[in-house]
Amino acid sequence: MAKIVFVDHLGKHYVTEAAVGRSLMQVALDHAVPGILGDCGGACSCATCHAYIDLSWVDQLPPKSETETFMLEAALDERPTSRLCCQIKVQPELDGLVVELPAEQA
Ligand code: FES
Repeated sequence: MAKIVFVDHLGKHYVTEAAVGRSLMQVALDHAVPGILGDCGGACSCATCHAYIDLSWVDQLPPKSETETFMLEAALDERPTSRLCCQIKVQPELDGLVVELPAEQA
């Protein structure tokens, strides 16, 4: 298990305990975190799981695939720290990861 903290655009924290191997999108849905919809079920084809990774964690994540990069370009308010939550699997070393939710998805 790893602690994953989602923070909405108003600063409200959703602290979750996530099983290793679940995607961040699945974790958000499991815990009813608002703003992560996951419409495509994790197929990297909808961008409704767009979120911002806390800058201190960005380098600890696997790199974006071509498909994720393409989908993020279509997301509203894409930033350098943007990721699709369905493309990141929980790992023990991600314990404490902070994920910020875009205001547009609130
Ligand atoms: Fe559709 Fe992530 S759930 S792109």
